[in-house]
Amino acid sequence: MRTAIYPGSFDPLTNGHLDIIRRGTRLFDRFLVAVLENEGKAPLFTVSERKELIARCTSDMPNVEVHSFSGLLVDFMRRVDANVVVRGIRAVSDYEYELQMALMNRELHPQIETIFMLPAVEYTYVSSRLVKEVFRLGGDVARLVPPTVLESLKARLPVTVG
Ligand code: PNS
Repeated sequence: MRTAIYPGSFDPLTNGHLDIIRRGTRLFDRFLVAVLENEGKAPLFTVSERKELIARCTSDMPNVEVHSFSGLLVDFMRRVDANVVVRGIRAVSDYEYELQMALMNRELHPQIETIFMLPAVEYTYVSSRLVKEVFRLGGDVARLVPPTVLESLKARLPVTVG
């Protein structure tokens, strides 16, 4: 049984994340999307809202499970018996941070491997942070997030134009 974990903030899920999830589900038997419970950041959506959005957008992928975790990722991985971390890399600029995290996780738990996956080219510039900023300022993000997420953004964020 190959179990991978795809951890992140997912505030909110973007089409880039969804593309990585779809690709990952083809490589692993169980693909766990794990939302970090991080009280330090001021998120737009609560952890349970983010989990709900991910679950709704992945309902056609039977081997996806949606979880949340706090504390060290490697400790959570031991609990759920996962030994592969999946992270998406968009541009070279992502690499340095990802390298540090992967090597730190290896230091903490030598048996786990991190694999980096590339999203479809059309999503290489998409991030949750920019999606929220552009949406807030009245820009069109319909191509960048799943329709369910777009509806939740409309319900949550007031649009301030000019
Ligand atoms: O989508 P993000 O916010 O870049 O995801 C970062 C995440 C959740 C993968 C990372 O912050 C994480 O794993 N946090 C858990 C705490 C931990 O294990 N830290 C040490 C690993 S470097």
